[in-house]
Amino acid sequence: EKDTLIVGIETSCDETAVAVVKNGREILSNVVSSQIESHKRFGGVVPEIASRHHVEQVTVIIEAAMTEADVTFAEVDAIAVTEGPGLVGALLVGVNAAKALAFAVDKPLIGVHHIAGHIYANHIVEELTFPLLTLVVSGGHTELVYMEEHGSYEVIGETRDDAVGEAYDKVARTIGLPYPGGPHIDRLAAEGEPVITFPRSWLEPGSYDFSFSGLKSSVINTLHNAKQRGESWTNEQIAASFQASVIEVLVGKTMGAAKEKQVKRVLLAGGVAANKGLRAALTKACEAEGLRLTIPPLKLCTDNAAMIAAAGTVKWKQGRFADDRLNGHSGLEL
Ligand code: KG4
Ligand code: ZN
Repeated sequence: EKDTLIVGIETSCDETAVAVVKNGREILSNVVSSQIESHKRFGGVVPEIASRHHVEQVTVIIEAAMTEADVTFAEVDAIAVTEGPGLVGALLVGVNAAKALAFAVDKPLIGVHHIAGHIYANHIVEELTFPLLTLVVSGGHTELVYMEEHGSYEVIGETRDDAVGEAYDKVARTIGLPYPGGPHIDRLAAEGEPVITFPRSWLEPGSYDFSFSGLKSSVINTLHNAKQRGESWTNEQIAASFQASVIEVLVGKTMGAAKEKQVKRVLLAGGVAANKGLRAALTKACEAEGLRLTIPPLKLCTDNAAMIAAAGTVKWKQGRFADDRLNGHSGLEL
């Protein structure tokens, strides 16, 4: 069988990324240009700044990825691009670049859902087998996704308010840590004891939905009241206590859903999959239940385009192409 070469383009948030992937699993290049430094002083991603950076970067990164992969556009089978969800202005830069490129080099175009991308980062690590369950945890998403076959996604639970990464970043900001705060909280949590009992948001029995805004408020209130009560907590204690609450719920719901759906395989995906505490807790729980767990390496957990090319390859095989009406959709459903 002939090799499939897919170019992936990702601009949904604050990374301009382009990759070339062979047969859906082999990375020939994976170039990521991060804008974190430009957003840091604002404490979060500023949409207008993100769009402008993507415009400046996208063609440069496409060239860099092609050069690194050492392939020509004539050898490429299709151009895959993130069509949503994300910041609409940011998405449009990638979508328009992909459309122009596909037209210029006369190759088919494929629209990819950003979360499908995060899930397929795991396919690069270890070939997917079905049925499986993915816990998707990022700055914009917290979802449990069940899959029976390639390219079919059933969201069985999602956050009703903040995404888990968002909660990490907000709590980090409250205790004076720089953006993005997730990695800082993770590091501090490893050095402290979870001495404060923050609420666990289980929601209704049987629900696989998540909610993190109550926990975030509880952290803020605890810090506020501590002064009046003469209590004083270290940042390590706060981080450890917050993280313990988050992880208990994430792992508990994942294990419950895995049992109900009778899967033997669990995947972790998204930027928060970098969290050491979460990786350790999920690994332990899956081992105890005899479930095979895959967690991508850090570079494939955070936003990148290799994952978009990998998910795009599935659509290529299934003949699910886009046409020149492809657009960016901030609230695209999986
Ligand atoms: O997937 P991602 O790169 O971008 C989105 O699609 O959102 O995820 C970024 C999020 C940020 O909220 C960041 O704070 C969080 O992932 N994050 C972490 C860790 N590393 C990144 N959260 C907790 N622990 C970490 N080690
Ligand atoms: Zn992401």
